[in-house]
Amino acid sequence: MSFRALLERLPIPILQAPMAGASFDAMAVAVSEAGGLGSLAAAGVAPDELGPLIDQIRTRTDAPFGVNLLMARPASPEPAAVDAALARLAPWYAELGLAVPDHPNRFAQDFNAQLEALTRAAPPVASFSFSILTPAQVDALHAAGSYVVGTANTVAEALAWARVGADGICAQGFEAGGHHAYFLADIEASSVGTLALVATVLDAVDLPVIAAGGIMDGRGVAAALALGASAVQMGSAFLLADEAINGRTWQAAIRAAPADATRLTRAFSGRYARGLENRFVREMRSVQEDVPAYPVQNRLTQALRAAADKAGDPELMSLWAGQGVTLAKAGAAGEMVKLWWGEAQDAARLLSRRTGGETP
Ligand SMILES: Cc1cc2nc3c(=O)[nH]c(=O)nc-3n(C[C@H](O)[C@H](O)[C@H](O)COP(=O)(O)O)c2cc1C
Repeated sequence: MSFRALLERLPIPILQAPMAGASFDAMAVAVSEAGGLGSLAAAGVAPDELGPLIDQIRTRTDAPFGVNLLMARPASPEPAAVDAALARLAPWYAELGLAVPDHPNRFAQDFNAQLEALTRAAPPVASFSFSILTPAQVDALHAAGSYVVGTANTVAEALAWARVGADGICAQGFEAGGHHAYFLADIEASSVGTLALVATVLDAVDLPVIAAGGIMDGRGVAAALALGASAVQMGSAFLLADEAINGRTWQAAIRAAPADATRLTRAFSGRYARGLENRFVREMRSVQEDVPAYPVQNRLTQALRAAADKAGDPELMSLWAGQGVTLAKAGAAGEMVKLWWGEAQDAARLLSRRTGGETP
């Protein structure tokens, strides 16, 4: 079966976005069991834990699911650069009564080891963001029995994924919450809205396209399918779900957020990501281009973010969320997916009436 056929045969063409720090196995299983496609956010999972975790998901659902990795470059920054970054963070740590952490031994999981473990475990779908696999790595995943999805912020990135043999493109628009996938151009050149991105990628690449960014309910699902997307990927819409693991402080900030409250920031992680604007985002804005690139800054702020979460202080946490986040609702992830699909069907009927395809 082709990946396009897998998407077309999903009872509900909604993929739950993998969300490191906000979703894990329970959400993935719930969404796949409901007829969508759940995804395990595995960026933080150690290589030797990946296989057992994937095996365990297989015991909980017979439906297809995805596993996602973030392609962090191996980082070995100069000690002086780490010192400078930590010095900049020292006042923020001090606010929480903490000394700055020591130089970490490691800045992220070893991506190549994670990829080997993932390939061995062969989940139905493997998806990637932040960079691009080699053709040999894609071939190995295919040989193992996994479909490969590459995340793209631009047409050029979608074409690059097509060239290495990916089976599908996750077209992630500028509206999206969390880290953006860009790897060929800078953030400004890579900031394309979902509507324009999905249509231009569809015209450029002969692969199924999964639309991501700003899709919060059935209206958005119907709109993306009307554009020609084979499925949608929704992240922020699940941030208040029962299975979400982002914690009370982050969820309270979402509930209290006014409209238009998200910004792109590089300050927390060294890679542009969208989240609710808070004091850290505002006050670090003038120096955000100077912080070390992902994953270094991400690792150096890890203890700060965790301590702020523990103290219930949303001003020093990375509150990743997309532009539509005020539409997020609470509930069981599986039920939400079914509800959105019903809404999408209603929206399609209205559209059909409006376009004269169906008499009222
Ligand atoms: C809290 C959060 C964490 C995310 N973590 C990941 C991740 O680990 N891997 C990934 O490929 N995308 C990640 N994303 C991006 C999503 O896959 C997706 O592109 C995005 O959520 C779509 O936009 P939306 O939030 O408007 O639905 C994350 C998004 C959010 C909101």
